[in-house]
Amino acid sequence: MFNNIYKNKKILITGHTGFKGSWLSSWLISLGANVVGVSNGIPTEPSNFVVSNLISKVNDIRLDVCDSSCLTEIICNEKPDFIFHMAAQALVRESYANPLETIRTNVLGTVSLLDAIRNSQCKHRMSVVLITSDKVYANKEWLWGYRENDELGGIDPYSASKSAAEISISSYLNSFFKNKSNDILFSIVRAGNVIGGGDWAKDRIVPDAARAANRNESVVLRSPNATRPWQHVLEPLSGYLTLAERNYSDGAFNYESFNFGPNSNDNHTVADLINELNKTWCKVSSVIENDVTNQKEANLLKLVCDKADSLLFWRPALRFEETSFFTAEWYRKYYESKRNDMEFFTMNQIDEYADVARKRGIHWAK
Ligand SMILES: NC(=O)c1ccc[n+]([C@@H]2O[C@H](COP(=O)([O-])OP(=O)(O)OC[C@H]3O[C@@H](n4cnc5c(N)ncnc54)[C@H](O)[C@@H]3O)[C@@H](O)[C@H]2O)c1
Repeated sequence: MFNNIYKNKKILITGHTGFKGSWLSSWLISLGANVVGVSNGIPTEPSNFVVSNLISKVNDIRLDVCDSSCLTEIICNEKPDFIFHMAAQALVRESYANPLETIRTNVLGTVSLLDAIRNSQCKHRMSVVLITSDKVYANKEWLWGYRENDELGGIDPYSASKSAAEISISSYLNSFFKNKSNDILFSIVRAGNVIGGGDWAKDRIVPDAARAANRNESVVLRSPNATRPWQHVLEPLSGYLTLAERNYSDGAFNYESFNFGPNSNDNHTVADLINELNKTWCKVSSVIENDVTNQKEANLLKLVCDKADSLLFWRPALRFEETSFFTAEWYRKYYESKRNDMEFFTMNQIDEYADVARKRGIHWAK
């Protein structure tokens, strides 16, 4: 997988204790990499980071990502070959409650990392992937998907913080890195609503539904007809790993941004997702409640992923039904076994996912 590039490499992941960061850590460990993680804590209880037993497997550093001088020290000492920047306040609703903290973490945190890379004056080769969001696009509420060169924007504080992070990235790359060193390679990645086992964040539909199913309660749906680009967490991660590997190998996509999302005909609503999860859980009923908070989330968001397909030969591997099944199975196993030991199951799902990708002829899995 990934041309075996990650074996014995040093990888720095910011946000390694979070949902996506913990899955990425498990995957990289299974590929033989040494993972150094930087996060300010463990964001949820329970957490995939703990139940997948990552504490004993990564160099686990607790730090505010806005502390640029400590980040510089870590980069100088660890000399990572790859950096994946995921640390963020990642929730739209929380961004309404705490806009200043959201913008601090998401904008200043990204700039702090870039500044740390600049100040570390690294001479070794390093491929850096900066994770933003599908929400960076100025949302026109139209039927068409967004392409990498579409206008940036953002109404809610989370979306605004992610597009502001991208503008800062562009400034840093143009001002401090371009033409200086060909050995530090950057790419920017935008993905949409990611689902999978081990997410326990507040106000996200899958964790809310999993908690409700476990307690035999109903889950509240605020926008049952909202369409989201649902994809399993391993799908965008396979895209990030492919892009980082390609950039590391030949710098072909330096300073480029890429969308990673489901196929454009894979449109499913929140209600569709609950129905699909219920094929495994059999028991979560839903209650529809109007959102009276005036805290807007876009109804229709779609990414066009032709660039990733044409240049990286990346495609999603799972169908919507399989994405839902992988997700529901993980939670079923967790709640049924009532054990804090999901390490084996998580690693197994990564293998299963790679097998499906291989069978479907997806390039990175060959
Ligand atoms: N989950 C999704 O559906 C989704 C969709 C689009 C983009 N993203 C982006 O992907 C990335 C990961 O998302 P996630 O769902 O895993 O989020 P998460 O909330 O599960 O994890 C966030 C991580 O960031 C760390 N963090 C937060 N503030 C920090 C700070 N000040 N200093 C250091 N660490 C800090 C947390 O400790 C945690 O490890 C984020 O950048 C998010 O915006 C996620």
